[in-house]
Amino acid sequence: MKTLRRNIERLDSQLQTRRFGREVQWLDEVDSTNALAAAWAKEGTETGALIVADFQRRGRGRFDRSWEADPGTSLTFSLVIDASEIGEDLGFLPVALAVAVAETLSEYVGPHFPGIKWPNDVILAGRKIGGILTETALRTGGVSYEGHAVAGIGLNVNQDTFSGDLSEYATSIFQVTGRKTDRVTLLSDLLFSIESIYDNVLAGQTDQVIDRYQSIMIGLNDTVRFSQIDNGRTNEGTMLGVDPTGALLVRTTDGIQTIRAGEVTLRNPSQRTLPS
Ligand code: BTN
Repeated sequence: MKTLRRNIERLDSQLQTRRFGREVQWLDEVDSTNALAAAWAKEGTETGALIVADFQRRGRGRFDRSWEADPGTSLTFSLVIDASEIGEDLGFLPVALAVAVAETLSEYVGPHFPGIKWPNDVILAGRKIGGILTETALRTGGVSYEGHAVAGIGLNVNQDTFSGDLSEYATSIFQVTGRKTDRVTLLSDLLFSIESIYDNVLAGQTDQVIDRYQSIMIGLNDTVRFSQIDNGRTNEGTMLGVDPTGALLVRTTDGIQTIRAGEVTLRNPSQRTLPS
């Protein structure tokens, strides 16, 4: 408990944000920070409220997958976002967050460069180092976008080994650089980048964020295989980038396809095929 209080105090003293991380709960253990943040949001918590946990018993990923991290080694946290504030740009949020995470990470992993696999897997040295799960709870019947979103971020920091399949697909800052990272400082830097990019989105600077995303997007202009969640179809085409809704644009023999929810498999042999 003492450690957690010290973490909160250090975070508060290092934070350079106005809103993100200013209201914080740092817990020893929780089922999922996303679940807890959603419950907190329902009580009326505002944009930027943060829940961090040193261990998640049931950390969740996209498509009902799990997210695992050894206790006290990594960063697993969730941020509350007021949906009425970001409105129709909500769909773009996961893309913007991936940029913030990858750009911050790049300051910690030189000479390596993080990349993003659509929509928001953060990749380092060909393996997944971070993931983002954005979940929304919008109230129906009222003004559209009334309600909240929870943006959950998992980033492998000091974990030295991964078990099972993860040993083949996952990595951490420590595994790549051999250096241990101060999680509180990293979290403070991440919150600063997240707040800045969130402000870019609120200010309508989506094109600028798309440019940043595409500059580190893995497989851009390459041939990829993709599957679509809505119709279960798989197809192949050239990855053209993302649009202002966060959807993936792929040129296929049938024309340009807009993929809102799905998964991409990179065909370029220089890139690994990574599950989400
Ligand atoms: C993915 O790549 O599939 C998304 C992983 C998201 C994991 C984070 S860890 C903090 C937050 N709480 C959760 O239960 N999941 C997200």
